[in-house]
Amino acid sequence: MALLINTRLAVLLLAMALSAAAATPQPPSDALQLPCPRLPRPDYQQKAQMARWLAHQLDWGVVSTTSRHLGGVAFGNALSFADGPRCRPTGRLIFFLSPMDATLQDLEKCSNASLTLHEAQLPGACRGVDPESPLCAKLTVTGSLEPVPEDGLEEAAELMFPRHPEMRHWPKGHQFRLFELHITTARLLDYFGGPYDMGPDEYFAAELATVWATSMAYLTALVRLSHNDLKKQLDDVESRLDDLESRPTAQLDTWLGPYIQEWQEHCDDDAASGASDSNDNKPET
Ligand SMILES: *[C@@H]1O[C@H](CO)[C@@H](O)[C@H](O)[C@H]1NC(C)=O
Repeated sequence: MALLINTRLAVLLLAMALSAAAATPQPPSDALQLPCPRLPRPDYQQKAQMARWLAHQLDWGVVSTTSRHLGGVAFGNALSFADGPRCRPTGRLIFFLSPMDATLQDLEKCSNASLTLHEAQLPGACRGVDPESPLCAKLTVTGSLEPVPEDGLEEAAELMFPRHPEMRHWPKGHQFRLFELHITTARLLDYFGGPYDMGPDEYFAAELATVWATSMAYLTALVRLSHNDLKKQLDDVESRLDDLESRPTAQLDTWLGPYIQEWQEHCDDDAASGASDSNDNKPET
């Protein structure tokens, strides 16, 4: 009987802990430090998704501008960018540029620019194929690279800095500013048969969320989050059990009396109704 009660108590406390954990919504947010390693690679036929995937997975790319210091020759510059914190892709292309850098000097004269991204930049990607092979996805996004207006700075910072935390501490004297590439067109090559051009509407309409809902990595991360929360709840349960253990038995009986009675009635009901949870009713030795 004592063991049965113990099992019941444990089940009740666990259920309480579980329901408390389940009641807490767990949206992905950087406050929770969601570990989100890599979103799964979209199918090559899903062109806009592939473009958005590259834009989200990569942390840097080559920005090409019409150079001033080279008299108009195209100048490619490897620069960091972000489209949002990990697992929260937006497709927006945010940069942090200093006027001490050639790119910003070029932009002051002509804001047109291209960002080139290559799947081979991802660790372990494109194994066994030449980087120029169409099987290794490449994207060039073209548009106007403009300073983010004052009223958009906060939002742009939230997209940029979680992916590039050290930027917050870069020297003020270098006058870094947030920029955004406003897309006119994007050209993707991810298979044989030539490149695919898409406009901003198609690019932004692509839904990466459906991709990461099926990602085991993402699901594991979510479970891990709930697990952390659950651990806190279980610690709480444990300390309550310790507290119970330290109570004198007489006091315990008073405290548990009504519950024991209720459980007994519940067990009797279960037994009478064919006991769906018959495992719990098995006598334990
Ligand atoms: C070049 O920049 C202008 C704005 O400065 C913009 O209107 C135009 O769409 C850009 N061209 C391309 C091809 O992105």
